[in-house]
Amino acid sequence: MKDHFQTRAKDWDKGDIRVNGAQTIADAIKERFTLTKDMHIMDFGVGTGLLGFEIAKSVAKVSGVDMSQSMLEKLQEKNTPKLHIEAICQDIVKDPLKQKFDGIVSSMTLHHIEDLKAFFMSIKNNLKENGFIAIADLELEDGTFHSDNSGVFHFGFDKKELCEIVESCGFKEVVFTNINTINKPHRNFGVFLLNAKV
Ligand SMILES: C[S@@+](CC[C@H](N)C(=O)[O-])C[C@H]1O[C@@H](n2cnc3c(N)ncnc32)[C@H](O)[C@@H]1O
Repeated sequence: MKDHFQTRAKDWDKGDIRVNGAQTIADAIKERFTLTKDMHIMDFGVGTGLLGFEIAKSVAKVSGVDMSQSMLEKLQEKNTPKLHIEAICQDIVKDPLKQKFDGIVSSMTLHHIEDLKAFFMSIKNNLKENGFIAIADLELEDGTFHSDNSGVFHFGFDKKELCEIVESCGFKEVVFTNINTINKPHRNFGVFLLNAKV
C-alpha cells in the first residue's frame, strides 16, 4: 500500500491552513448535527486527527481510519487518556470495516478516492439507522491546489454530479454548503460540506 503522506506527516500539523480549515469543518459539523456523549463517530482519512480530536471532545468515541501509517503515528502521539482517537490503519474502500457508527465525518480526503460510488456504497453499510455523513472537500479546482497531485483522483468536485452519486447510493437529505475559502497566493479554493442521512 503506497503511503503518499509518509514525508508530509511529520510537518502536517504545522500548516495553519490545515489546522484552521479542520477547525472550521468541525464547527460546521457541530452546527448541523447535535453530537452527544453516547455517539461513536468514524473519521474517514483521519490523518493526524485535526478534525477527529475536535469531534472527540463532544462524543463517546472516535475511530479514525487512515491507510497512512505515518499519519496515524503522528495522531497517536497526540492521544491522551482524556482525549483519544482509536487509530485503524486500513483502506476502507478495498477492505471495508464491519462496525456501525452514528456518523461518519471526513476532511479533505474524498479527492483521494478513485471510485466514489464504491466508497459511498461501502460507508452506507457502516451507518446505524438515521446515521449521518458530513464530508468536507474542495469545490471544482484547476489542479493547482496541491503542489504534487500524486494520489489525487479528483480536482475538487462538481456538486451536482457528486449529489447524484450520493443519492444513487441510497443517501437522502443531501445538502451542500460552502463553509470555507482557502486563500493561496495564486487563487482561492472553495471548501464545501456535504451532509446526508441514511
Ligand atoms: C489530505 S489528508 C487529510 C487528513 C485529515 N483529514 C486532515 O484534514 O488533516 C487525506 C488522508 O486520507 C487518507 N486516505 C486517502 N485514501 C484513503 C483510503 N482509501 N482509506 C483510508 N485513508 C485514506 C490519507 O492517507 C491521508 O492521511
